[in-house]
Amino acid sequence: MKSEHVSRRDFLRVSTAAGVGVVVGGVALSGCQGSTLTAAPVAFSHKPLERVKVGFVGVGGQGSSHVKNLLNIEGVEVCAICDIVEDRVSRMQDRVEKAGQPRPTGYSRGEWDFKRMCAEEDLDIVFNATPWRWHVPICLAAMQNGKHAASEVPIAYTVEDCWQLVETSEKTRRYCTMLENCCYDRVAMMILTMAQQGALGTLLHAECGYLHDLRLHKFNLHGNEGTWRTEHSRKRNGNLYPTHGIGPVAWWLDIYRGDTFDYLVSMSSKSVSLNEFAAEKFGPDDPRVKEKFALGDINSSLIRTAQGRTIIVKHDTNTPRPYSRINLLQGAKGIVREWPKPLIHIEGRSKPHTWQDIDEYKEEYTHPFWRDLSQEARKGGHGGMDYIVSDRLIQALRQGVAPDISVYDAVAWSVIGPLSEQSVARKSRPVDFPDFTRGAWKTHNPISIV
Ligand SMILES: NC(=O)c1ccc[n+]([C@@H]2O[C@H](COP(=O)([O-])OP(=O)(O)OC[C@H]3O[C@@H](n4cnc5c(N)ncnc54)[C@H](O)[C@@H]3O)[C@@H](O)[C@H]2O)c1
Repeated sequence: MKSEHVSRRDFLRVSTAAGVGVVVGGVALSGCQGSTLTAAPVAFSHKPLERVKVGFVGVGGQGSSHVKNLLNIEGVEVCAICDIVEDRVSRMQDRVEKAGQPRPTGYSRGEWDFKRMCAEEDLDIVFNATPWRWHVPICLAAMQNGKHAASEVPIAYTVEDCWQLVETSEKTRRYCTMLENCCYDRVAMMILTMAQQGALGTLLHAECGYLHDLRLHKFNLHGNEGTWRTEHSRKRNGNLYPTHGIGPVAWWLDIYRGDTFDYLVSMSSKSVSLNEFAAEKFGPDDPRVKEKFALGDINSSLIRTAQGRTIIVKHDTNTPRPYSRINLLQGAKGIVREWPKPLIHIEGRSKPHTWQDIDEYKEEYTHPFWRDLSQEARKGGHGGMDYIVSDRLIQALRQGVAPDISVYDAVAWSVIGPLSEQSVARKSRPVDFPDFTRGAWKTHNPISIV
């Protein structure tokens, strides 16, 4: 693994250095004359956009919620909608018209029709909330046609695809961001403020994950996700949905902003819960009772960072349990965690050996962003996080600054999926992370969201 990444890094270093003139030319040709390279090869910015023209691919459960939020954000024009289900396209077209905008063009001529949309439409950015296998092809089609790309999570689930996204974003000078809404969770942002202000002392360890009973979804008894998500449980064994957990943690620990993931080890339990659930729901003779699922019910992955911090990332979408992303941060002077209940202990402030309710620190550490958030925005899906993730992105494009979540963040968080699969398949042996920034993580500034 390591030598493959090193040689690819070297190749990229040479090709990027040699290609800057070509890249700048390419940007001008594709119609974004305002682009400026600030710190090649990893940072670039674009001319501020007064209005942001959006194309949207995949308007199922999450996508339709995104479109509704986008219609509430000033300066957004939803110009095109694409989905393989024609009915969903027309419902969203109606919705956009109802919001007072011109009817967007509809695209529903099959699974690859997003390519036609990316080629034909005059758009600034293409969002997608499609099943996982489509995230990379849609982002690539967007960038190759001169549009920025924003994808639902995880943005990719192979190492090769992660590199393709990085290379294409660098070559086309188009942003490729991920809609990781959980970074903007109220408590997670409170923890970010604490981490940045040193309230917990030197940061040592974090725990996070995606613990969500999706058994009904996986057997198509709730929503549409069973039509595509279950396939991943059949074929893959690892930490399949890492970004909701790791996104906020990566911000707290300055990952790619002074620290980086070094290596991981990963272990999965056996898989029994989906079969037992099938027996209970469909009876003992149903074929689903004996169906083979590769995905172990509970995956635990352990990451060590270059600066010597440790992170546990858990994944469990098969067992009966209340929802949790854990969100725990331990420093040399204190500990805070969000689930099952937000609690904190700070040495010298909390009674020894005692937890306090985190809201006792609300005045001090509520992120300014959440202080000012309107009631309307709070209704925008998943407690307001879905609205915030789109609003932040649109504001960045309108101000001509880079989105909060870079292509490097998106792939570093997503690559935990395939790396964990490799480790699980090899008796939990350590697997090195690729350095998608080619060393630039050492000098990037910490995340700043004010
Ligand atoms: N951030 C979050 O909190 C959150 C929550 C739910 C889902 N998601 C993510 O959103 C994505 C979609 O999940 P969902 O629950 O909305 O699934 P869904 O099945 O409800 O919606 C997917 C939509 O994509 C369409 N689609 C499939 N292939 C397509 C193609 N090739 N071209 C165009 N349209 C296509 C489907 O017809 C469907 O309408 C997934 O990546 C999922 O992980 C994120």
